Amino acid sequence: MKEKHKPYIILSAAMTIDGKIASKGGDPNLSDEEDWKEVHKLRSQVDGVMVGKNTILKDNPKLHIKFYKHRGYYRIVVDSHLSIPIDSNIITFQPLIYPTIICTTENASMDKIKNFESKGVKIVKSGKGERVDISRLMPILYELGIQNLLLEGGGTLNWSFIKHNLVDEIRLTIAPWMVGGKNATNLVEGTGFETMAEGPKFKLIEVLSRDNYVVLKYKKNEL
Ligand SMILES: NC(=O)c1ccc[n+]([C@@H]2O[C@H](COP(=O)([O-])OP(=O)(O)OC[C@H]3O[C@@H](n4cnc5c(N)ncnc54)[C@H](OP(=O)(O)O)[C@@H]3O)[C@@H](O)[C@H]2O)c1
Repeated sequence: MKEKHKPYIILSAAMTIDGKIASKGGDPNLSDEEDWKEVHKLRSQVDGVMVGKNTILKDNPKLHIKFYKHRGYYRIVVDSHLSIPIDSNIITFQPLIYPTIICTTENASMDKIKNFESKGVKIVKSGKGERVDISRLMPILYELGIQNLLLEGGGTLNWSFIKHNLVDEIRLTIAPWMVGGKNATNLVEGTGFETMAEGPKFKLIEVLSRDNYVVLKYKKNEL
C-alpha cells in the first residue's frame, strides 16, 4: 500500500520547571519577549499552526506573527463539536493573511458548518468518533499544502500526537517557575503509557540557555 504523506510536525511549548504549560488558574504567560520572537520565527517557517479547542476558549490567541516578514499560514483548530465562538480572534483577526481551518468530525452539525463557512473558515472532517481522528487528519492537511505543521498545544492535543507517534521534532522552553497544581495543564495530558518502552523516544539535538530560560530541541529517535 502506498504510504500516505503527513506534514513534518514540530511540537512547540513553554513549560515551567515542573512541566506545567499554564497555572491552575489558566495563566499561560511563561514566555519572555526573546522566547516569543523564537516562536514567531518558527511560525514564519511553517504552513500551519495548530491548537486544541480549549486553548482557543481559554486564551483566545491570534496565532499571528509580530516580529518577522512572512507569507502567512493556516491557523488550525481541532474542535469536534464546532464549539469555539464565531468571534474568536483566530477567525476575525487578519483572515486573509492567516486563513483558518477548523478540524471536526463527520458528526458535526450542518448549521454550525455553514455558520463558520460564512465567515471564510474552511471545515475539514476527520473520523466519525467522539473526537477528531488525528491520524486520518494528517494526510488530509498534507493534501491541502501543509507540509510543515507547528503544534502549539495544549496538553490534551499534544497527547493525541504523542500517542500516535506523530511528532517529528520538539522545541521546548523551560521557564523559571514552579507552580504545581494537579489541575494545572501539563505539557502532555491524556491517559499516558504504562511503560517507558511504549512512549516515543527523542534525541536531544540542542540545548540553549539565557536569562534563566532553557531551550531544548529534540528530534524523533528513529532507532
Ligand atoms: N505554554 C504553552 O506553550 C501553551 C501552549 C498552548 C496551550 N497552553 C495552555 O493549555 C491549556 C489548554 O490545554 P488543554 O489540554 O486543556 O486543551 P487543548 O489541548 O488546547 O484542547 C483539547 C480539546 O481539543 C479537542 N479535540 C478534538 N479532537 C481532539 C483529539 N483527537 N485529541 C485531543 N483533543 C482533541 C477536544 O475538545 P472537543 O472534544 O470538544 O473537540 C479537547 O478537549 C490552556 O490553559 C492554555 O493556556 C499553553
